[in-house]
Amino acid sequence: TQPAQQAAGAAAPRGFVPGLEGVVAFHTAIAEPDKDGGSLRYRGVDIEDLVGRVGFDDVWALLVDDAFGAALPVELEPSPVRSGDVRVDVQAGIPLLAATAGFRPLLDITDDQAREQLARTTSAVLSYAARSARGDLPEVPASLVESRPSSVERFLTAWLGEPSPEQVRAIEAYWVSAAEHGMNASTFTARVVASTGADVPACFAGAIGSMSGPLHGGAPARVLPMITQVEATGDPVGLVKGILDRREKLMGFGHRVYRAEDPRARTLRRVCAELGAPRYEAAAALEQAALTELRTRRPDHPIETNVEFWAAVILDFAGVPAAMMPAMFTCARTAGWSAHVLEQKRLGRIVRPSAVYDGPGPRRPEDVDGYA
Ligand code: ACO
Repeated sequence: TQPAQQAAGAAAPRGFVPGLEGVVAFHTAIAEPDKDGGSLRYRGVDIEDLVGRVGFDDVWALLVDDAFGAALPVELEPSPVRSGDVRVDVQAGIPLLAATAGFRPLLDITDDQAREQLARTTSAVLSYAARSARGDLPEVPASLVESRPSSVERFLTAWLGEPSPEQVRAIEAYWVSAAEHGMNASTFTARVVASTGADVPACFAGAIGSMSGPLHGGAPARVLPMITQVEATGDPVGLVKGILDRREKLMGFGHRVYRAEDPRARTLRRVCAELGAPRYEAAAALEQAALTELRTRRPDHPIETNVEFWAAVILDFAGVPAAMMPAMFTCARTAGWSAHVLEQKRLGRIVRPSAVYDGPGPRRPEDVDGYA
């Protein structure tokens, strides 16, 4: 197919890159995936050295402050919006925080104030998600939630009442590994909104909206039916061959950025094994069958496991229902958004790319259909 601007006769300017793929728009000191080396570092620290050793609160502080130690504030309120979908409740409820908490636009506040508002907005996202996930069950007493020392424990307590230590470890590992990933769609959205000088909750609401699309990796749920089938049939090779013969995609494999293995998949696989996740064996057998078959069919083009595959296994192990997985991704990525919103505020330059105009030429209103 021809690019639209050629079909319409408009010249493509030099440097035109559809979808901004590979275009460098910012300097960042936060993180950027090393696509060939297959590693991901947060402010220089490899996630391999963080997952399982450092909790989500410290990773939030590492990304935002470039230092460990600052705890996230305790927030206990539910979202003012209840729709039945956890992610929607968070996305719709969070902008109201600007009014209720009196958050002014980024343009009118100091960096220190912005940092505090980012911490509070993050905690509000986690509280809204946990309280929405609890649904109609009786509320967990606030004193019990408050007594927990970390954001992950407060989240799980507000949602479940009494989480197991394994659930805490699983969610810590997932939130830490999914906390930040460079210039992905939601983070870019957060930076675009921040670049206008908008308030912090508006930046988050925009980012959460862009995360609602299945293409942004918010759907590890699609991996689970494959694992269930392997458990039922004991035939991972047959399953993989069938999917590829039908020219369908194998969910949880391939990546736009990484040519080597997605480091988050590697890390979460290790944690799943350490935790003794009951679906580990079936998942590992499926992964092995998929990689063998993909390498046989496409020896010239490496397609490796991506984060979604093992995120599905670890979230399932922690008892997260498939419908809630996008909300879990939202909670994790608040850390990256916070760091980028602050970096963008300091940059102080509005994001405003251009497009090639290939619509109608100059004309009068009378020439437009429907003119009366
Ligand atoms: N299963 C089967 N074939 C695949 C897969 C896969 N998982 N991934 C890539 N291919 C094929 C492509 O169809 C393409 O085939 P073609 O040359 O015949 O057209 C070829 O391999 C090359 O594709 P890439 O350039 O490597 O992949 P691309 O950058 O276009 O897409 C994507 C990346 C969207 C992630 C793709 O691999 C995919 O759809 N994977 C399955 C869905 C998935 O797991 N998504 C989560 C991604 S991780 C995240 O978003 C956080």
